[in-house]
Amino acid sequence: VCVGGGTGVAVLHPITRALKEAGNHVICIIGARTKDLLILEDQMKAASTDLRVCTDDGSYGHHGFVTEVVKEVLEEGDVKLAVAIGPVPMMKAAVNITKAYDVKTLVSLNPIMIDGTGMCGGCRVTVGGKTRFACVDGPEFDGHEVNFDELIMRLQAYLEDEKESYEHYCTIRGT
Ligand code: FES
Repeated sequence: VCVGGGTGVAVLHPITRALKEAGNHVICIIGARTKDLLILEDQMKAASTDLRVCTDDGSYGHHGFVTEVVKEVLEEGDVKLAVAIGPVPMMKAAVNITKAYDVKTLVSLNPIMIDGTGMCGGCRVTVGGKTRFACVDGPEFDGHEVNFDELIMRLQAYLEDEKESYEHYCTIRGT
């Protein structure tokens, strides 16, 4: 089962396609906040065996989060592997569900990256109690081993600066 949220669907697409081309039965669940923000629906349909779509506001497909559909699919049985890519809270929630069903789950992490070469340490994440650099050791990791709370905390490190920078940008653009 492949689970994608928001722009994470773009990252999930080649993985989904490769899994299907390798002969797997691939159930794909994609979601977005609203219908207008949903991306690559046709491509994901072609890349998977069975596509299920969700929107948080109910404007299209299942009304609710992708994680609700993940639970339904796991209840249907015999899932060998899950791949979850999207916002960190979505991946954290998906992993919590797959853990309960003992289904191995790959996630693609998006910590703050600076040099992307394994030198600066900016992208460090804790996986299985060990420090890993997402840019060179990942970005895919075993979701059941990831310390998501730490990742969420680190992603918020520059929130104030990002907000200030965005406001400055809007002032310059006059928007
Ligand atoms: Fe610098 Fe990964 S971004 S070590």
